[in-house]
Amino acid sequence: MNLLDNLVKTTSIPEIYRNMKQEELEEKVREIKAKLGKKLFIPGHHYQKDEVIQFADAIGDSLKLAQVSAENKDAEAIVFCGVHFMAETADILTSEEQIVYLPDMRAGCSMADMADIFQTERAWTELTALFGDTMLPLTYVNSTAAIKAFVGRHNGATVTSGNAEKMVKWALDQKQRLVFLPDQHLGRNTAYNLGIKLEEMAVWDPITNTLEAQVETDKIKVILWKGHCSVHENFTVENIKQVRAENPEMNIIVHPECRREVVGLSDYAGSTNYIIDVIKKSEPGSAWAIGTEMNLVKRIINDFPDRHIVSLNPHMCPCLTMNRIDLPHLAWNLDQIVAGTANQNIIKVDADIARDAKLALDRMLNLA
Ligand code: 13P
Ligand code: SF4
Repeated sequence: MNLLDNLVKTTSIPEIYRNMKQEELEEKVREIKAKLGKKLFIPGHHYQKDEVIQFADAIGDSLKLAQVSAENKDAEAIVFCGVHFMAETADILTSEEQIVYLPDMRAGCSMADMADIFQTERAWTELTALFGDTMLPLTYVNSTAAIKAFVGRHNGATVTSGNAEKMVKWALDQKQRLVFLPDQHLGRNTAYNLGIKLEEMAVWDPITNTLEAQVETDKIKVILWKGHCSVHENFTVENIKQVRAENPEMNIIVHPECRREVVGLSDYAGSTNYIIDVIKKSEPGSAWAIGTEMNLVKRIINDFPDRHIVSLNPHMCPCLTMNRIDLPHLAWNLDQIVAGTANQNIIKVDADIARDAKLALDRMLNLA
């Protein structure tokens, strides 16, 4: 067996879990949860599949999951049902003794991958040459620990879709302009809601290393990193026109990772928690088209059978990386934790990076 074969064999799920029946896997997870009790904590993001979310000890948006991870002092093992950057955040916010696991290490986030530390350092140097010491960096939590650490070192903070307005206001109280990584849409939508004109926002392209601006540099207030979510970019103005034409009574609610034009034409926009909350408070019989990830939309449809709910894009798929965490991976990871052989699923952020990233996360959590 060569090195690559060996690596694949030790880091990927054994076939036996793939062949087990759903009931057997569920029984296994239930037994291990009962055995480990409070020593085990399973946070689950709203975008996770039902087969996984049924076992979550806390379900929430990125903000809530960051908060509960920071508060949990009991768990020795935190099995994060979400994506890589969320597990990194949990590791940064928990103690040295607590171990964070990700049941499938391939569960990344394509948006987080759109900003790497080399590009960020390079952009900062170029932007400092243009703007001097007038900028504060903010990064969406959907970013690597290295980017969070960069932001922490430069006096900035992390943001989530649940507190973006508060954090952008905070940043603009500190400095004349902000650099928002890596999601241009969340940055643009948030700044626009705070009254900043679209022409006062420029876009930094990390591939061509250029600033795309409509006005002179001294008029720019927000610099948006040219990144996006490949799931939320699939909601379009065409989808909205179609829904409005077919059912003018329908309320449209979307996640702020959608493009500005889509958010602008929608009735409501907010984080995953916000979307659930608005639907929960809505009148029975009301009609809703939701623009966010499909596992969550399906769950909302099931949880509120007395509302008429559809996906804003009828051809929408779930987030493929979120979907990598499935019941077989969860059961396998828990088995390995019990056996003491789960090393390949540990998320451990380098100590220096964790220290600086925590500065950025704490600035957010102390304001949230
Ligand atoms: P929330 O911040 O609303 O949880 O959504 C973020 C997201 O897209 C997770 O990847
Ligand atoms: Fe990343 Fe988008 Fe998936 Fe969220 S929905 S994990 S932002 S790719």
